[in-house]
Amino acid sequence: MPTVSFKNDTGSEVTVNLFGATVTSWKHEGEEFLFCSKQAVFDDKKAIRGGIPIVFPQFGPWDLGPQHGFARIKMWKQTSEAHHGDNGAVSMDFALEDDDETRKMWNKQFKLVYTVTLMQNTLETALTVHNTGDTEFDFTTLLHTYMRVEDIYQTSLHGLEGCTFSDKVNGGEHVEDRASIIINQNYDRVYVNVDGPVNICQDIQTLGTLRIERNNLPDVVVWNPWQEKAKAMADLADSEYVEMLCVEAGAVSSPVVLKSGEQKTFSQRLIICRGQQVTL
Ligand code: BG6
Repeated sequence: MPTVSFKNDTGSEVTVNLFGATVTSWKHEGEEFLFCSKQAVFDDKKAIRGGIPIVFPQFGPWDLGPQHGFARIKMWKQTSEAHHGDNGAVSMDFALEDDDETRKMWNKQFKLVYTVTLMQNTLETALTVHNTGDTEFDFTTLLHTYMRVEDIYQTSLHGLEGCTFSDKVNGGEHVEDRASIIINQNYDRVYVNVDGPVNICQDIQTLGTLRIERNNLPDVVVWNPWQEKAKAMADLADSEYVEMLCVEAGAVSSPVVLKSGEQKTFSQRLIICRGQQVTL
């Protein structure tokens, strides 16, 4: 499990596992903001249960290959050392290109470039998809972010009111009528075309509000397997569902099309608004 870590000057540190280019830890002033299971498997075969696995080229079950595609279970290359940008930002780049194994599942030529950037109070992850072949292709993609929460029962999600969602647990399409969502059951919903940021609010000074801003990732998947499902998952400890909330920025409700030679960047910013309550 080859990992690489880097820091910035404002007390943040991020760790990336080259398997899946999965960000597995993001600490700010010693506090961990991402959830990674104690039982996560690091065998370079199974997707890591925590952090920010990258979903590409398919969100969800896939006829051609594994659920959520292959990007999260391929070994990526680190393509730069930590480099400094504006305003104290520090970034590192990773890449994945098509190979025999990916072409067997999905016969397309592509290059993925993933840039992880630490800014003040902020982690930005940006995935650029390049179509390096001579035919058009389409895909769905998502940053499957596992946020660490102190207590799911005291955590609320804001910014989804008025959005249409499909409910993957109970079925159907609905419109969210709550300004403040508290998760208290097996929850698996795809909120479509969400405008503006989503805020995760906790009644805890240390973690406070975490704001998620998205670029070219219009949809937001909210997932927590809850007690029963968590028990059935070998790579999640039975009680850990109370410590995590997946808020996943994605382009999943309609496929993205890239013509030959085209590229597109999909990114999110996780912003620590320490001590602040809901700010929409
Ligand atoms: C979410 C999906 O994005 O990922 C859920 O909406 C799925 O349906 C979850 O269960 C976890 O997927 P996996 O493949 O990592 O177990």
